[in-house]
Amino acid sequence: MNDAMRANLLGKLQHVAIVAPDLTAASDLYRNVFGANVSAPLPLPEHGVTTVFVELPNTKIELLHPLGKHSPIAKFLEKNPAGGIHHLCYEVADIEQAIQQLSNHGVRILGDGKPKIGAHGKPVVFLHPKDTAATLIELEQV
Ligand code: CO
Repeated sequence: MNDAMRANLLGKLQHVAIVAPDLTAASDLYRNVFGANVSAPLPLPEHGVTTVFVELPNTKIELLHPLGKHSPIAKFLEKNPAGGIHHLCYEVADIEQAIQQLSNHGVRILGDGKPKIGAHGKPVVFLHPKDTAATLIELEQV
């Protein structure tokens, strides 16, 4: 693939997601210790998580806690009982173009490879961390 065919896919850092075993404690840390603007917990049953948003000037932190029996982050918490950084989310202008370009380079898309509507009502995909420097990456079309 030549340079003319390689678009710069990456926009802003949309959020950094952190799994928290105790959502209240993590919220209190950001609100009371760091002094940040922190949302109320938002249950997202269709995504199997409860989310707290921490506003930063240039991005967001999403504190995640499992919700329900089939939470996608339950296994993460089993392996990492203290929680920790779970994924980074980058904004992309065109998610289909991003999928095409990444697939051309052998980067695998998790699940069925098709965008799903994410926690912010926008199309998202997750990339296989074995193909992305051991980092779980979410792409969100904006
Ligand atoms: Co995310």
